[in-house]
Amino acid sequence: MVEKVPTGIEGYDKVLKGGFVKSSVNLISGSSGTGKTLFALSFAYYGALKFNEKSVFISLEEPKDRVIVNCGSVGLDLNAVDQNLFKFHDLASERGSFSSESELSPSSKNPIIMDNLLKYIRLYFGDCKRIVVDGVVPLNLVCRDLKEFRSNLFRFSMGLRKSGITCVFTTEVPFNSNDTSRFGIEDFVADSVTKLNATDKGHQLRVHKMRGSDFVRGNVDYSITTQGIKVMF
Ligand SMILES: Nc1ncnc2c1ncn2[C@@H]1O[C@H](COP(=O)(O)OP(=O)(O)OP(=O)(O)O)[C@@H](O)[C@H]1O
Ligand SMILES: [Mg+2]
Repeated sequence: MVEKVPTGIEGYDKVLKGGFVKSSVNLISGSSGTGKTLFALSFAYYGALKFNEKSVFISLEEPKDRVIVNCGSVGLDLNAVDQNLFKFHDLASERGSFSSESELSPSSKNPIIMDNLLKYIRLYFGDCKRIVVDGVVPLNLVCRDLKEFRSNLFRFSMGLRKSGITCVFTTEVPFNSNDTSRFGIEDFVADSVTKLNATDKGHQLRVHKMRGSDFVRGNVDYSITTQGIKVMF
C-alpha cells in the first residue's frame, strides 16, 4: 500500500483516494482564475494546520500581501497558522527586483534557476514535508529552450522526491484549452495531474493521472467559498 499525503480538502482527498502519493510531484493546472493558487495553498496551509507538517509555499506569481488578501476571502488565515510550520517564500517580489530575468546568467544566484532553487530548498527547508511552487511558468524564463526547461524541471522534481517532500506545482493553460499544461512538459514530469476548469455552468476538476495509485476518474464539481474550496464528491 502506498503512503498517502492528504491535501486537507475533504472531497479532493476522496477523489485522490486518500491524497497525493508521499514524495511525489503533483501538478495542478488550469486557466486564469480557476483556483490553482487556492488549491495549492490549501495543501500547504492544511498540511501545517491539520496535519502538523512543515509546509512551504513558494510564490513566483503573486506577492505575499496579495496572496494573504485573496486567501483571506476564502477563510484561509495565513497569519493564524503556526509560523514554524508554515513558511511563505515570496519569490514574486524578489523577481520584481531583477532588471531582466533573461539577462541573468545560469551561474548567478537567481533563485528561479531551478538548480539554485533546489539547493535553497534543501538548505533552508530540508526538513519540510510539503512544498508548493506556484507556478512553474516563470521558471521557464531563465531556460534557453524547452529542452533545457524539461531537463531542469525533471532534475528539480527528482531532487524533491529524493528529499521525501511531497510537492505541488501549478501551471497555467489558455482559456478553453484541452491541454493539461502550458508547455506540454509539466504534465509528463509530474506524478499526478489535476486540471481545473471554470465555465458558466460552474467549476469542475478532473484528475488525469496519478502514478502508483487509483483515483476517481471523470469530472467532479468544486466551488470556491468563503469557507475554502469545496469539492463535491
Ligand atoms: N470568497 C470567494 N467566493 C467565491 N469565489 C472566490 C472568493 N474569493 C476568490 N474567489 C475566486 O477564486 C478565484 C481566484 O483563485 P486563484 O487565485 O486561486 O486562481 P488562479 O487559478 O491561481 O488564478 P491566476 O491564474 O490568476 O493565478 C477567482 O476566480 C475568484 O473569483
Ligand atoms: Mg494563481
